[in-house]
Amino acid sequence: MRLAIKKGREPAVKKRGAAVKMRKLTAIAMMLALMLAALTGCSSISDGDKKDLIVVGFSQVGSESSWRVANSESMKQALSEEEGFELIFDDAKQKQENQYKAIRMFIQQQVDYIVLAPITENGWDDVLAEARQAGIPVIIVDRQVDVSNENLYTTWVGSDFLEEGKMATEWLGQELDKRGRSGENINILHIRGTEGATAQIFRTQGLQDAVDENPNWNIVRTLDGEYTEAKAYEVTKEYLEKIRDTGEKIDVIYSENDNMTFGVLKALDEEGIEYGGEEGIIVISFDAVKSSLERCLAGDITLCVECNPLHGPRVANLIRSLEAGDVPQKKSYIIDTFFSAESITEEMIKERPY
Ligand code: AHR
Repeated sequence: MRLAIKKGREPAVKKRGAAVKMRKLTAIAMMLALMLAALTGCSSISDGDKKDLIVVGFSQVGSESSWRVANSESMKQALSEEEGFELIFDDAKQKQENQYKAIRMFIQQQVDYIVLAPITENGWDDVLAEARQAGIPVIIVDRQVDVSNENLYTTWVGSDFLEEGKMATEWLGQELDKRGRSGENINILHIRGTEGATAQIFRTQGLQDAVDENPNWNIVRTLDGEYTEAKAYEVTKEYLEKIRDTGEKIDVIYSENDNMTFGVLKALDEEGIEYGGEEGIIVISFDAVKSSLERCLAGDITLCVECNPLHGPRVANLIRSLEAGDVPQKKSYIIDTFFSAESITEEMIKERPY
């Protein structure tokens, strides 16, 4: 448990009452620390160095995917002491209750900013109202929140997940055309991410919209992979065993993140089912982390749709602009791209930092 030590600075948008209370707490904490230092002979607070740091509490989803690990790393680097921040990082282990607890702890600690990467969109009204009541600005990152009042958070930054879904399905239409298969019945196995997460809602919508537009495309099954390799492997393996002798064919796998794709490919390998290349199942994956791009170059994954996880510098800049008294846009969408087995190169993979 960390000590709620408030640094000797005040956030631009913080309420006056809270700031006064904060100073009192700081003084008490400093006194306690000095007494402790006198007793133990060592100091736990380097007050000279730390007093100007902006204190940020970050509630992270978990560490379910390579994307998430890269995202956490980016946040830690950009919100480091060298950059002028003190980061309190909390891993919610994919549980919304843990995110509630973390946010309430940040409020108690009177951090300057709360950053929230929400697991799902719903269920945020109460806890965000508490943060607002305490005068702490909340920055939402990656997935979004569906709240009754948009003023419950200050700003959001992340990917346009519907655009990602559109990129994937438009590419698929063109690819089927190129392969002379646009008139065929196309069976799609859909591997879905955590239900209710923005990335899931809109990547699924992108697929559903395309299926509605193409009467010969069918979603033969939707399996819940919860964005993890282990779960996707388990549900795909079970599904493949069920259809083993039925003659049911799969033409396309639409997998809503790379780690789930790795689990699916493992299950396909075990069943001896061909994927990738010119003849095998067309595999579409989201995120485009380095290990996925490598499998794309090898021809196993046919399309990698990018979802850039490097939000740390974006969040740091948003905080800096709030500190400067600016009002950032309510929502900032970043631009993603895609890589196909045909277009990917060694150089592109080398350039990938995650
Ligand atoms: O919200 C972004 C998604 O969450 C990424 O696609 C996935 O890998 C992560 O777990």
